Amino acid sequence: LYPKQMEGNSTLLERGNCRAKGGSPGFKVAILGVAGGIGQPLSMLMKMNPLVSVLHLYDVANTPGVTSDISHMDTGAVVRGFLGPQQLENALTRMDLVIIPAGVPRKLGMTRDDLFNINAGIVKTLCEGIAKCCPKAIVNVISNPVNSTVPIAAEVFKKAGTYDPKRLLGVTMLDVVRANTFVAEVLGLDPREVDVPVVGGHAGINPPCSFTSEEAAFLTSRIQNGGTEVVEAKAGAGSATLSMAYAAVKFADACLQGLIGDVNVIRCTFVDSVVTELPFFASKVRLGRNGIEEVYALGPVNEFERTGLEMAKKELAASIEKGVSFAAK
Ligand code: NAD
Ligand code: LMR
Repeated sequence: LYPKQMEGNSTLLERGNCRAKGGSPGFKVAILGVAGGIGQPLSMLMKMNPLVSVLHLYDVANTPGVTSDISHMDTGAVVRGFLGPQQLENALTRMDLVIIPAGVPRKLGMTRDDLFNINAGIVKTLCEGIAKCCPKAIVNVISNPVNSTVPIAAEVFKKAGTYDPKRLLGVTMLDVVRANTFVAEVLGLDPREVDVPVVGGHAGINPPCSFTSEEAAFLTSRIQNGGTEVVEAKAGAGSATLSMAYAAVKFADACLQGLIGDVNVIRCTFVDSVVTELPFFASKVRLGRNGIEEVYALGPVNEFERTGLEMAKKELAASIEKGVSFAAK
């Protein structure tokens, strides 16, 4: 019955009532890549978000099962499933927020850049759909390598004449989530009381505290290699999915909080930037009704951080350039 009978008629997979509960405005959110390790828990968590009134679930495989499953949850959002490229435009039309976890994950021994050849094309195609069907949507890019896929998305939007740097955000929230957890472990704190901004490998901390140089080196390395720690533990079964879905929902929720006009919604994200000489950089931004309202400067950095920053910038420049050249082809 699916997807043939679904074409041009999404009501078969449309479930739930049409308004977010509790009088909230209710945003329309699309997730692209819902059948994957991140996509499934991310879809579940977004279905639980009271700010979401409509949830569009898209993948090139296995959308019906995920959609049916998620649609049984008794929360307010209407759930609709879309399978395959011929349904991409319907999935994207009138969306306020699009989250992209589509693409292959790392396996043992691979770098994120090894994913470029497959994921660059996937992100490019999906962003062409966004430019056509929901050019004003906020876009959260999760697919790796984020340092290249965000520049690819920007180039696609520029070509289509729809680029708004305030609305394109690379999701680096998992770095922050990990940093909060690892720092709390070292300092014996509750992770919920820790807020570590991860800025191009640079970390600071609140509440005020200090680290020995050994602790700083240990934490920096663990945060930078958190992804590999999970890839190795999963031993061939992919990379972080559950913590990523958690981080993605934290970040998407912040974007929606900004859209409804909450003040002081500040998160780290990889964005179009003048903070350094690079065209994109991850730093703290303030989110609001138009997406990014303000990108914050780095503030003072110590010698250890300056060295890390210079190393990170070299690698970043190459990844950004690789994405831009790919999209220009
Ligand atoms: P996965 O293989 O479990 O799932 C990927 C999903 O994407 C699959 O369901 C697949 O069918 C779908 N897909 C493939 N091509 C598609 C297309 N053209 N359109 C729509 N969907 C498509 O992978 P995963 O573990 O969920 O990871 C997904 C991506 O997220 C990877 O690139 C991974 O490296 C990245 N990731 C990023 C972060 C981050 O911090 N930004 C963290 C973890 C993983
Ligand atoms: C992560 O940091 O967990 C992700 O970027 C996935 C990976 O490949 O490490």
